Amino acid sequence: MLKLFHNAASPFVRKVMVVLHEADRAEEVELIHSVGGPLATENMPLAENPLGKLPTLVRPDGPALYDSRVICRYLDDHFDAGLYPVDRQWDVLTLEATADGIMDAAVMKTYEGRWRPEELQYAPWVEAQWDKIDRALDAVEARWMPLLAGPVHIGQIAMGCALGYLDFRHAERDWRAGRADLPDWYAGFLDRASMQATLPEG
Ligand code: BEZ
Repeated sequence: MLKLFHNAASPFVRKVMVVLHEADRAEEVELIHSVGGPLATENMPLAENPLGKLPTLVRPDGPALYDSRVICRYLDDHFDAGLYPVDRQWDVLTLEATADGIMDAAVMKTYEGRWRPEELQYAPWVEAQWDKIDRALDAVEARWMPLLAGPVHIGQIAMGCALGYLDFRHAERDWRAGRADLPDWYAGFLDRASMQATLPEG
């Protein structure tokens, strides 16, 4: 059986879980609850993934897979989910990369507050993470709205998980302010059963 090192707060883990739900195969993967981070690695998958990060997928018939982009692509192939449309693949993959970058920056901000002593936190570095998120959200509104419409694909899933994480951990920054199209799209996407089944917690 496939096994996934999992934490319901991680937006990267959520991406994988949404893919599994969209493929209607969530029950075919055993979840291994993992809590930790770079400074607390006891429960992290160090033996399976030298980076010790979530998500990591353990397969019965080959080495473990990471990171979320590789795992999602593998699951799509394994379960024939059809989440990587060939005719738009470079745009879809770039949208996924943009959403992953938003998640990276937002998780960095979470980690800064969680793992660093307050006197070592550096406000300009944190603001630079927000600048990155703001620029990415503006670019998505300016360029990618047509790609967010239509049949579900990995770019939409990644963007839904990125926005969900901003609401979950960084609601005070109100990513919706000054934007209209992306909030509307997200409100609709959040209604999907796969998104409702994977709401973040922790
Ligand atoms: C979080 O608690 O925000 C979190 C947990 C695991 C990975 C990334 C973020």
